[in-house]
Amino acid sequence: MGDMTGQVAIVTGGARGIGRAISERMARRGMKVGVGYSSNPDSAEELKAEFPDQITIHQGNIGNRADCERVFDEVLQAHGRVDVLVNNAGITADKMVAKMEVDDWDRVVQVNLSGTFYMSQLAYLHMAERGMGRIVNISSVIGEKGNAGQVNYAATKSGLFGMTMSMAQEGARKGVTVNCVAPGYVETDMVAAVPEQALEKIVSGIPLKRLGQPDEIARVVEFLSDPESGYITGQVYSVNGGLHM
Ligand code: CAA
Repeated sequence: MGDMTGQVAIVTGGARGIGRAISERMARRGMKVGVGYSSNPDSAEELKAEFPDQITIHQGNIGNRADCERVFDEVLQAHGRVDVLVNNAGITADKMVAKMEVDDWDRVVQVNLSGTFYMSQLAYLHMAERGMGRIVNISSVIGEKGNAGQVNYAATKSGLFGMTMSMAQEGARKGVTVNCVAPGYVETDMVAAVPEQALEKIVSGIPLKRLGQPDEIARVVEFLSDPESGYITGQVYSVNGGLHM
C-alpha cells in the first residue's frame, strides 16, 4: 500500500452507510476527508467528532451543479487540494415501470447520474492540472443485472459504467484513474427500506446468504484510491456475495 498520509479525499454521501465506512477508512489512513451530506447533519457531526483533525463536513445536493461547485471550493479552501473523489451519494425511488412517475425518474437520474458527472468534472479539471488523481464511482449490482422495480436506479447505475470508461480513457494521459465499485445488497438504511418479504427473497438468492457490510465495500474503494493502484483504470470491481458473476 502507498502512503496516503496528508492526501485529500471527497466522499459524497460520506456520513452514512457505505460512504461513512469509506470516510472512516480514509481518515484512518491519515487522509483529510471532505465529507458531503445532504440531509442528515447529526450523522455528519458525529463523524466529524470521531476525526476532528481530519474530517470536514459539507452540506449540499449533488444533483445541483451550484452546490457541487460550492462544496468543491469549500474542500479546497479547507485542505488545499483533492487527490481522491469517491462518488458515493445516490438515491432510490423504487416502483414498477407501470407506476413510475416522471418525477421518480428525473430525481434519481439527476442525483445518481448528473450529480456524479458534476462532481467528477470538477475533480477531473483539478486533478488533470496536478497530473494525478483517483476517481471511484459507486455503482451497484443493479446496474449489472437490472431489477424489477428499479428501472430508474438501474439505468443510472449502468450509466456510471459508461461514464467511468469514457473518463478513464481521457484521464489516462493526465495521471487520473477512474474506476467503479459495484456493491450488492449491503446492510444500510437504503436496503433496510426494502419490504421484508422482498428482502428475504433477495438474501436467499445470494450465494453467501447474507447482506454485505459497508466496510467490505470500503476496503475495495481504499485499494482503488491508493497511489500504488495507478495501473488500474476503467474497471468495475463487483462486491456482491456472488449475487452476480
Ligand atoms: N419480477 C417481475 N414482476 C414482479 C417482480 C419481479 N421480481 N416482483 C413483483 N412483480 C410483480 C408482481 O407479481 C405484481 O404483478 P401483478 O400486478 O400482475 O400481480 C406486480 O409486480 C406488483 O406491482 P406493484 O406496483 O403493486 O408492486 P408493489 O407496490 O408491491 O411494490 C416495489 C413494487 C416497490 C418495486 C417493491 O416490489 C419493492 O420494493 N421491491 C424491491 C426493490 C429492490 O430490490 N430495491 C433495492 C433497493 S436497495 C438498492 O437499490 C441498493 C443496491 O444498489 C442494491
